[in-house]
Amino acid sequence: MKLLVVCLGNICRSPMGEGALRARIARSPLAGRVEVDSAGTAGWHRGKAPDPRAVACARRHGVDISGLRARQLQPADFLRFDHILCADPDNLEQARALAPPQARARAALLLPWAGVTSASAVPDPYYGGEADFEHSWTLLEAAAEAVVRRLSAAPDSGIIGP
Ligand code: 4NP
Repeated sequence: MKLLVVCLGNICRSPMGEGALRARIARSPLAGRVEVDSAGTAGWHRGKAPDPRAVACARRHGVDISGLRARQLQPADFLRFDHILCADPDNLEQARALAPPQARARAALLLPWAGVTSASAVPDPYYGGEADFEHSWTLLEAAAEAVVRRLSAAPDSGIIGP
């Protein structure tokens, strides 16, 4: 199972989401069976490390995302990943516009797809402050928890069982 977390710049929400997911999966029975990556619909920050505020936020929660590097979402990602999980509706619209038609359904909104009900979008913290990064992290950590629950429960996920 391969999951791709997508936001706009790939320097705030999606690297935090990638970090939260990797950390949660690593201490679950899914460890070693799920690959996680992230990308941005825009290419402005290609090759750059996550925003220092995102790195600091993840670090406060025990997760090191400093080694991640930004990249832009590519049409080929829709063939490589099972699910393209978008932070907000704009990201979803941009991702779908790029998708090969037969793979368009692989794109979804992260929070509803995971089963989180407290919010449907992860708000962009880029123009905000530490509290906004913390709010995004809280949602992304809830998503990570819910993704593990969803994939562990799905009998047809190809992950657990015969
Ligand atoms: P992200 O946040 O989509 O969560 O990575 C942003 C990062 C950069 C910009 C906007 C949002 N920007 O305008 O450069």
